[in-house]
Amino acid sequence: MKLWAGRFSKETDAMMDDFNASIRFDSRMYRQDILGSAAHVKMLGACGIIPPADADLIRKTLFEILEDIEQGRIEFDLSAEDIHMNIETLLIERIGQVGKKLHTGRSRNDQVALDFRMYIRDEMKSIKALLLEMEETLIKLSESNLHTIMPGYTHLQRAQPITLAHHLMAYFQMFRRDIERLDDCYKRVNIMPLGSGALAATTYPINRMMVAEELGFDGITENSLDGVSDRDFALELASCLSIVMVHLSRFSEEIILWSSSEFGFIELDDAYSTGSSIMPQKKNPDAAELVRGKSGRVFGDLMALLTVMKGLPLAYNKDMQEDKESLFDAIDTVKSCLGIFIRMLDTMKINKANMRDAAKGGFTNATDLADYLVRKGIPFRDCHEIVGKMVAYCIEKKIGLEDMGLEEMQKFSGCIGQDVYESISLEACVNGRKVPGGPAAESVRAAIESGKAFLEEVKK
Ligand code: ARG
Repeated sequence: MKLWAGRFSKETDAMMDDFNASIRFDSRMYRQDILGSAAHVKMLGACGIIPPADADLIRKTLFEILEDIEQGRIEFDLSAEDIHMNIETLLIERIGQVGKKLHTGRSRNDQVALDFRMYIRDEMKSIKALLLEMEETLIKLSESNLHTIMPGYTHLQRAQPITLAHHLMAYFQMFRRDIERLDDCYKRVNIMPLGSGALAATTYPINRMMVAEELGFDGITENSLDGVSDRDFALELASCLSIVMVHLSRFSEEIILWSSSEFGFIELDDAYSTGSSIMPQKKNPDAAELVRGKSGRVFGDLMALLTVMKGLPLAYNKDMQEDKESLFDAIDTVKSCLGIFIRMLDTMKINKANMRDAAKGGFTNATDLADYLVRKGIPFRDCHEIVGKMVAYCIEKKIGLEDMGLEEMQKFSGCIGQDVYESISLEACVNGRKVPGGPAAESVRAAIESGKAFLEEVKK
């Protein structure tokens, strides 16, 4: 019989049971549900709401159930609907009348809000750990590529020379903000809703702070309607995760381009590539493509959550059971994408010579030649035009600017001297840009140091 069947005169239809049940997806919150119940019942005992001996027996049995679930000894029952009632049913099966006291002063509405927040909290910790691992990988790769010159792009056209380290450290900054966003979101996730009851709290003299402290929450929700009906912490996490996926997806796009023969900047390790069923020569960057593709799932999860919530009157509505699958999917997807991406980066081969050749071939030193002429006293706009003409000349002759002879150059401007060559070498172009945030090795080294300090700080 169902735990709520008192006022019913007939069984629910089997199809209704199946439609209504959430156990297929919320069973993953079993640990949080049990820890939440254990804290609740401890408080009930301590406040004299139920006899302390009953509270102890319930707690002990709950932990036995936890152990049995973890050992795979329990099969959940669809007719018990969800994880909350499955565990309560197991408890009552084991200790009878005493078990029926667990749900005193509590509703499934505040219980599910509690479990969901606790589950999210745990998952946020593992996502943060993966983001930190990503950051460490980027730092390691950057440290060994401070002088690996490559073209920087705008409009996907070669623009100015930078280094691979500088490019990778751009992603470091993005993931750094992702970590900061998660940390900020965590403050709003880690608030304890139990005690909100079904919607209007409870008449029992419960001690909400005691439960919050027992479960490691930073505070309690301050309105019972809000406590059971708010899911903006989930929306916020789904937004944070969507932004992580935007970053991963852009990075994937670059990995895919870079591993093409047209670029030839990197070669992915065989362990993270796949072949073709028909074309024997193929080695495809599937991991990066899947990450790029999976960004769509996570954005979809966010959109689904926003839509579930947007029209709901206060307080709890069953629509909210739909919050879990979307957020779980977003969490699972981000975790697997980060995991594979880190390994893919860590094992890829970097083709420094091809990167350098691409930087050399694309007139990426044209701005530096214009800046050289500025230093000789010519206004920048005129320099721009002079160098534009020199580029056109070089395209015609199929040479680089640095391949022109001095006399050849002087036909375009008499101000050009022998010192031009060292001003437009790729090394000079990169290392001249040593303002904070620039690509010069010394600037990137400073960015790496600051990044390391950030990692030390957030790991605390
Ligand atoms: N399985 C439900 C959910 O995920 C638990 C809360 C049910 N509350 C209720 N009043 N039916 O939202």
